[in-house]
Amino acid sequence: MSVFESKLPELKTSIFTEMSLMASEYDAINLSQGFPEFDTPEFLKNSIQNAIESGKNQYAPSIGLPSLLEQVALLIERQYATKVKAQDNITITSGATEALWGAIHTLVRQDDEVIIFDPAYDSYEPAVELAGGICRHVTLNAPDYQVDWDVVSQLINKNTRAIIINTPHNPTGTLLSEKDLQQLQNLVVENELYVISDEVYEFMTFDNFRHESVLRYPKLFERAFVVSSFGKTYHCTGWKVGYICAPKLLTQEFRKIHQYVTFSTFTPAQIGISSMLQNHPQHITELSLFYQEKRDILSNALKKSRFKILPSKGTYFLLLDYQAISNLNDIEFCHWLTKKVGVAAIPLSPFYKNTTKDKVIRLCFAKNESTLLAAAEKLCQL
Ligand SMILES: Cc1ncc(COP(=O)(O)O)c(C=O)c1O
Repeated sequence: MSVFESKLPELKTSIFTEMSLMASEYDAINLSQGFPEFDTPEFLKNSIQNAIESGKNQYAPSIGLPSLLEQVALLIERQYATKVKAQDNITITSGATEALWGAIHTLVRQDDEVIIFDPAYDSYEPAVELAGGICRHVTLNAPDYQVDWDVVSQLINKNTRAIIINTPHNPTGTLLSEKDLQQLQNLVVENELYVISDEVYEFMTFDNFRHESVLRYPKLFERAFVVSSFGKTYHCTGWKVGYICAPKLLTQEFRKIHQYVTFSTFTPAQIGISSMLQNHPQHITELSLFYQEKRDILSNALKKSRFKILPSKGTYFLLLDYQAISNLNDIEFCHWLTKKVGVAAIPLSPFYKNTTKDKVIRLCFAKNESTLLAAAEKLCQL
């Protein structure tokens, strides 16, 4: 075949793959890709092993195992004081990625516009494009990455179908506030839009900041999909198990797509996670403090460096401004950092449609203390 017309001609290898490959080639400390260095809890591993040994190895119901759906409904009630129905509102998915894909394909029709905020997680735009839609980008800038809702309002037109938000936010570690959610709610209700809320870091917020889930805002939730990932919550990103919560009608439409994308999600993991939620609820209540300590280890160790540390209120990412150290653009700087300094980080410009001149990089602190201290020692030498 000499010519093949790509459906995603502009898409290149993701920056996460590129930096992780470079980290291993140069034997650098890898603070680039966002995955934990430590293992998933023993109880969860044992539960999954037991499920496999006892022959629970066939398809789960397409929408998810009833016991896991129930546990997620209880979790939502505990966290956000919101009652949802397991069978009507929750669907278990193969990672948040599948949930986002399905939500986007449920909502987006040919030529619909979807508003996203840059820096944006990289799976949103290809999914919107493959659904026939167009992303309209709102640029957020360092150091605070605040949303100007007037700018969002001006972008809304008769083709606007949905707004995708992500809080706690990857890559910046910022949180949307109660005021942000209220402004979003006003725009969504007034213009009859939909929301996809990517909340995969929902249990990782610091310094007593509260995660403002869309699930706390009934009028907003009426027009929303809320997405989460057990991979983030239980340090098992490789299992790809997540869930999506939405009103009944949206859930019904979502499930039509879900059944022909994956049909159902890995049964033993659903059994294990259900049992983990039931028997060890403290894992979730302790998660913020667990990650806050890691954030503090890294940021304290970097205090004497020439990097400017930007505030991280949630997620497991910390942004550093390197203006005082180098004039290189952020991609060149990350390449240099990996090859010459021995620390791999992620540049922020690939998260922007219209690029950015901010000299900011992202470090992942979901690592052991020794790894964080070894990386900080190298960075302090610059
Ligand atoms: C903001 C955001 N959304 C979605 C995902 C995908 O989650 P999953 O691995 O469960 O598909 C990630 C993973 O890094 C993420 O950071």
